[in-house]
Amino acid sequence: MNLQFKMPFGETGRHFIRQAALLLVSMVIVAVVLNYAISAFFIKDAEEKIHNVLLSHRGLHQYIQKVMHPEFYKARDQGDIAANYYSPEIFSSSFIVRVDHGLYNKERIKAGLPEIYYKMASSNPRNPVNKADESEASLIRMFNEDRKVKEYRSIVTIDGQKYLYYAIPFIETNKGCLKCHGKREDAPSGLQALYPGEGGFNEKAGVFRAIESIRMPISQEISTAFILTCSVSVGLAALLLLFFFNTRLKSLVKAKTATLEKEVDERKKREADLEIKNAELERFTYTVSHDLKSPIITIKGFTGSLEKDLANGNYGRMSGDLKRVSDAADKMDDLLRDLLELSTIGRIIHSPESVDMNQLVHDVLAQLSGPLKNNAINVTVQSDLPTVICDRQRMVEVVQNLVENAIRYRGDQFDPQIHFGVRLDEDTQVFFVEDNGIGIDEKYHHVIFGLFNKLDTKRDGTGIGLALVKRIIEVHGGKVWVESEGVDKGSRFCFTVGQK
Ligand code: HEC
Repeated sequence: MNLQFKMPFGETGRHFIRQAALLLVSMVIVAVVLNYAISAFFIKDAEEKIHNVLLSHRGLHQYIQKVMHPEFYKARDQGDIAANYYSPEIFSSSFIVRVDHGLYNKERIKAGLPEIYYKMASSNPRNPVNKADESEASLIRMFNEDRKVKEYRSIVTIDGQKYLYYAIPFIETNKGCLKCHGKREDAPSGLQALYPGEGGFNEKAGVFRAIESIRMPISQEISTAFILTCSVSVGLAALLLLFFFNTRLKSLVKAKTATLEKEVDERKKREADLEIKNAELERFTYTVSHDLKSPIITIKGFTGSLEKDLANGNYGRMSGDLKRVSDAADKMDDLLRDLLELSTIGRIIHSPESVDMNQLVHDVLAQLSGPLKNNAINVTVQSDLPTVICDRQRMVEVVQNLVENAIRYRGDQFDPQIHFGVRLDEDTQVFFVEDNGIGIDEKYHHVIFGLFNKLDTKRDGTGIGLALVKRIIEVHGGKVWVESEGVDKGSRFCFTVGQK
């Protein structure tokens, strides 16, 4: 199919490119959304893991503060533990959790899992390892200022690795905390001895003094999301492309089939027309050759007779024979002239115009006034004839031929009459030329419109007149016929003018 080569050009091509561009753009949008969705899924998953870690830390904090501390104080009050004894290893929940997390990471590495970075960050740290950097300090301020914010998360890149960073405020400082985080002198003496600076002291209740933050590596998840997105997108694109090309091909094939079908229909119609024309031509050729034969036979006969006359010296008969030969030649001449005219109808057609039939009929009658008067024919014309759209010149020929016919076949009428009128058959206007002449037997009603068919061979005329009328009316898309009740009953030649 050469249509494919046409595609980059013209209207079809532009349409195709527009569609392809639209498809590409929507594919990109789909891919971005898909990537976002898959990444969001992985991030949500990472977030949950982080949450789990932090919650288990929180549990440990609670255990130390709520279970271990009271137990410790009880033992100390009973004197089982020295009054000034303090050790962060068995006393500070943040210390224990930090160490615990370090051990947890070691276990992770052993299990082939990536480390999870964890930090308890404070702007006023007791232990310098807990010192908040600038961004952590600002997060602590943020959580204190806006209590509605419960968490902070973002994706950060460190050394080319992507991490999910997640931070939550640590337990709000309460009175119990102030035992060790209030004034230095109020803290256990062992603690004071261990932490010589002011870090971690002078805190107030009702404030977050730290955040817990976690960094979880998510590079692998992100690349998995990317690969997933790519493969799904490519698959989808391939499917869409297939679908797109399929619909496109289908519509192309459909359009092509429709044009082909139309072409076939047109060709069939032309063939049928041609067949009708051929049959017509065949009939025509037959009639023409038949009718031309009779003057030829006449000529041949009388030339033979002339030869004899010459041999016999019968000069008296010769002029009569010569006249017969010349008459036959004249007849052939008339025949050929009329034939020529007939052949031009259908080809030469003047452009149709609006023709007032009153005017046209009166013009024709005026032209024929000589023969009408000579034969004392009484002509009447219906008033208010309509206007028709037709080839005026040809319509004149039609009316003229029909009136001439009526004159020619008036018969031995005492009071010959011709009437031109119009009537409505259903919704069709039917014009007619009516006479009270010789009439036509029903069996000849069709024949008379054929070529060279004369009802009365003794009359003048070539017999082409009615054939001419028929051709002209048919070229106009109309019909012509004769109505006559029989011989001596007169005849009515009717015709319609079609819309053509
Ligand atoms: C018995 C004493 C004691 C109590 C009670 C106590 N802490 Fe601490 N806290 C410490 C010690 C000691 C450290 C330093 C541990 C280390 O070396 O990491 C610390 C560290 C911290 C840290 C880490 C930041 C820093 O300053 O190094 C935070 C946060 C913290 N405590 C919050 C609290 C909160 C909140 C409470 C009350 C719910 C509380 N602590 C109760 C002794 C205590």
